[in-house]
Amino acid sequence: MAQSYSARSRAIEPFHVMALLARANELQASGHDVIHLEIGEPDFTTAAPIVEAGQAALAAGHTRYTAARGLPALREAIAGFYQQRYGLDIDPQRILITPGGSGALLLASSLLVDPGKHWLLADPGYPCNRHFLRLVEGGAQLVPVGPEVNYQLTADLVERYWDQDTVGALVASPANPTGTVLDRTELAGLSAATRAHNGHLVVDEIYHGLTYGMDAASVLEVDDDAFVLNSFSKYFGMTGWRLGGGGAPPAAVGDLEKLAQNLYISAPSMAQQAALACFEPQTLAILEERRAEFGRRRDFLLPALRELGFRIAVEPQGAFYLYADISAFGGDAFAFCQHFLETEHVAFTPGLDFGRYQAGHHVRFAYTQSLPRLEQAVERIARGLRSWQG
Ligand SMILES: Cc1ncc(COP(=O)(O)O)c(C=O)c1O
Repeated sequence: MAQSYSARSRAIEPFHVMALLARANELQASGHDVIHLEIGEPDFTTAAPIVEAGQAALAAGHTRYTAARGLPALREAIAGFYQQRYGLDIDPQRILITPGGSGALLLASSLLVDPGKHWLLADPGYPCNRHFLRLVEGGAQLVPVGPEVNYQLTADLVERYWDQDTVGALVASPANPTGTVLDRTELAGLSAATRAHNGHLVVDEIYHGLTYGMDAASVLEVDDDAFVLNSFSKYFGMTGWRLGGGGAPPAAVGDLEKLAQNLYISAPSMAQQAALACFEPQTLAILEERRAEFGRRRDFLLPALRELGFRIAVEPQGAFYLYADISAFGGDAFAFCQHFLETEHVAFTPGLDFGRYQAGHHVRFAYTQSLPRLEQAVERIARGLRSWQG
């Protein structure tokens, strides 16, 4: 029967961590206390002022479609936020509201990729990027990146890997799974390198706001023609509301709007109404406190794992992930993850979910658990290492 489904759907890999998650849920159902360090979403529920705005929106009957580009008031609020956070004047006309950052990725790949064409992507990276490209009959050219380049594409790598079928490069800053950030100069270099080939630069900024001890630069500070993917999922803590956004050059907006109308009509209206509360000072105060909490967690977990022998070559500056080399312990990352789940009931993600390059000896920890839970996790991991026979 599988033959009757599309080649493109067969080409998409599932998340390998799902098999571990299913087992984690089984263990939990049979009474075990599983510590989840595999989950890529904040453990906090959506901040109260946003929830209240969502409830009020439902009560007021905001249950219908909005314009495909999104609510004008929300696009203006986002433009105001860019002014406040980056000192940038962004025309709200260039902002589209999408169902999650995933919706923005769908729009960008649909707009920019013809069959057989590809984007350069960092390996390791967020796996859905290459899957979206496959769905539009394009592809990903995975560029192996290690600590020597902060796990990020560089202008040199773009130059080296660009070929006649390349139409762009997609980078994420902060990145998943490594948490590394591109600075303004690096973004400008990537912009120049893609421009030199008449290509497009797409920057996933969905972890913006979740950086520690610094703020991430937006590509729009250095390149007015770049495409930006954004989201209310991570910093704003609204994963389940399915709300994101995109910033595009003015000339692209009409085509993106047409795609949005056809692909999903509009992002959820109650979520858009709720998100208007995101930019209120009282909400931002809550979000900044949560950001500080993520920073404290990183500052605990990073040295603790290093002390146990995990190699985390680059100090991650953002997101909520640590990408660790487990070579010192020997063995395969998937089996390593299984071992810790079965013996210590700690779940984390094997490198295979993020690409191919050195994936077999890397794992990702998400610090989306409280400090006491992280402390417990470290104790269990220390014990599990003693019984691991790689
Ligand atoms: C790098 C990256 N981009 C995009 C997304 C998509 O998130 P959402 O659709 O919830 O905005 C994720 C989710 O984990 C991610 O890690």
